[in-house]
Amino acid sequence: MSLAQDHQTRRDLSPNDLEAWWLPFTANRAFKKNPRMISRAKDMHYITPDGKQILDAVAGLWCCNAGHNRQPIVEAIQQQAAELDFSPAFQFGHPTAFALASRIAAMAPADLDHVFFSNSGSEAVDTALKIALAYWNVRGQGQKTRLIGRERGYHGVGFGGISVGGIVNNRKFFGGLLTGVDHMPHTYNRQEQAFTKGEPEWGAHLADDLERIVTLHDASTIAAVIIEPMAGSTGVLPPPKGYLKRIREICDKHGILLIFDEVISGFGRLGHAFAAERFGVTPDMICFAKAVNSGTVPMGGVIARKGIYDTFMKGPDHAIELFHGYTYSGHPLAAAAALATLDLYRDEKLFERTKAVESRWMDAVMGLKGLPNVLDIRTIGLVAAIDLASIPDGVGRRAYEAMDVGFREHGIMLRITADTIALTPPLIISDNQIDELIEKVKKCILAVA
Ligand SMILES: Cc1ncc(COP(=O)(O)O)c(C=O)c1O
Repeated sequence: MSLAQDHQTRRDLSPNDLEAWWLPFTANRAFKKNPRMISRAKDMHYITPDGKQILDAVAGLWCCNAGHNRQPIVEAIQQQAAELDFSPAFQFGHPTAFALASRIAAMAPADLDHVFFSNSGSEAVDTALKIALAYWNVRGQGQKTRLIGRERGYHGVGFGGISVGGIVNNRKFFGGLLTGVDHMPHTYNRQEQAFTKGEPEWGAHLADDLERIVTLHDASTIAAVIIEPMAGSTGVLPPPKGYLKRIREICDKHGILLIFDEVISGFGRLGHAFAAERFGVTPDMICFAKAVNSGTVPMGGVIARKGIYDTFMKGPDHAIELFHGYTYSGHPLAAAAALATLDLYRDEKLFERTKAVESRWMDAVMGLKGLPNVLDIRTIGLVAAIDLASIPDGVGRRAYEAMDVGFREHGIMLRITADTIALTPPLIISDNQIDELIEKVKKCILAVA
């Protein structure tokens, strides 16, 4: 048997023991009793080991924005693997990662023009928080150490990310977390905002809570504010109109760095390279990951303003300026995949397409209003969330069952958070596939009514 055939056989075989893999963010016992297994993917679909097509309504996990197994990306990875498998990023470099950094810097707003690579969104967040702390330190203001996040924020699972994050289950099991962290209120109010398309009218005033926090701690102790411009994992909360501008103004007024966590909102999800551009607000750093290479090889990073980078560039020439980095920062395979992905986004005009299809998408999703148990629908860009009423025996059960029945009976992959269904399809979705997706979601909601 050839090596290729051997690999093929391994992929096709059903595993005979599911015990060893402790799955992340998964109900392991339920999964192992009745697994939802995937063996292949192409474009808008996953394919199960027995050949069933599953419409991907979530771009994998908000990452496969170009769709699955796209030939140019596959070839770029294959070619890079054959040319340069790995090269250290500590004191050495390789051309592909430099080309990618320049490319990302050119896509980023204003003078966000230096890129630090990590391997995930969580690492991107830790990197941005550490750069913020070190930045003030290097400037002789080492007392500026406080970090401000937001309730319901999701910034990955590192200790930095869960400390500034605001999702209770991601925090409560893990001890004291980082000290010196405070949280602004989240921006959701169902009474005021239910069934809004795009940015809600109500809620910009919630940004003023940052003034309260500054008054409480004093700006001289605060390093940075980190928020998702559109909160994603908590169940899709588009920012209220004017909210982000107000946050930027308060940060400017008090000399506080503003970090946008764009791990979900970056690379086309809202019709722009970055949500910062869509909302017309320039942060000091942007965290990215996921769709940078359409989820094909782990990669994340931070884009920093020129002034931040320049602050570190002093001292003797041979001295390391920032004591931070990862063995796989700027990994050749991830970087090659990203360059091919960015080419594909450009050549197929996928960000523009997202903008063009947005209103059709929002109308289609809002068509689910009135179905049993639908309490709210929020939608912006190619994103939507549907809140379902919880059933008495447990929060999360109804949406879990909708997700499960979707996969087993209706050929659709959904993402859930508690009783919220999130929809974030690959940006290549056709108009007909939008209709098909909504029809399938409708069946899932009716199945758990
Ligand atoms: C806004 C945000 N930040 C960070 C992360 C963490 O990314 P990762 O799972 O790659 O560590 C996520 C993941 O969904 C995210 O949505």
